[in-house]
Amino acid sequence: MNEQTGSEQTIALEFTLESMDFVRAGEASGKVKQYLKKLGFKPEAVRRAAIAAYEAEMNVIIHATRGIMRVEISHDRIVILLEDEGPGISDIEQAMREGFSTAPEAIRELGFGAGMGLPNIKRCADEMDLRSVPGQGTRLKIIITNAQA
Ligand SMILES: Nc1ncnc2c1ncn2[C@@H]1O[C@H](COP(=O)(O)OP(=O)(O)OP(=O)(O)O)[C@@H](O)[C@H]1O
Ligand SMILES: [Mg+2]
Repeated sequence: MNEQTGSEQTIALEFTLESMDFVRAGEASGKVKQYLKKLGFKPEAVRRAAIAAYEAEMNVIIHATRGIMRVEISHDRIVILLEDEGPGISDIEQAMREGFSTAPEAIRELGFGAGMGLPNIKRCADEMDLRSVPGQGTRLKIIITNAQA
């Protein structure tokens, strides 16, 4: 984890994510949650940011090869950006549908693959932008606004 404080009082956090790393799974989003709590953001905003970050983190770990999560925290806004290398998503609209999942059996046995992660992120986020180049990777931006208590 890298931590920086810039002149405009933006805190930037950065985490690397590895495919199928179930040992560290949830660590990045867990740290983001602790950070936001410590900084005194609204509990409701912390909860939404933490859920969205967790689902996005798990998607990189489960569906991609490797990725990076960057979080920018300013006085009332949380921006969570995930960029990964991997198979990408050929049909974003389909991927956004509740219940759609390409997770294989072994992943479902671990309790993932209900196809609820992306719809859940959309519900939690004030703004969400999902883009992908099939065969290359995926970029997901999640913004939580009015987050300060
Ligand atoms: N970062 C990603 N790279 C490649 N494919 C992805 C990525 N994120 C999501 N997808 C695709 O979109 C589908 C839907 O994602 P979503 O998070 O909604 O469900 P899931 O991960 O399959 O299951 P759940 O999140 O409920 O455990 C995935 O099954 C996968 O095909
Ligand atoms: Mg998911």
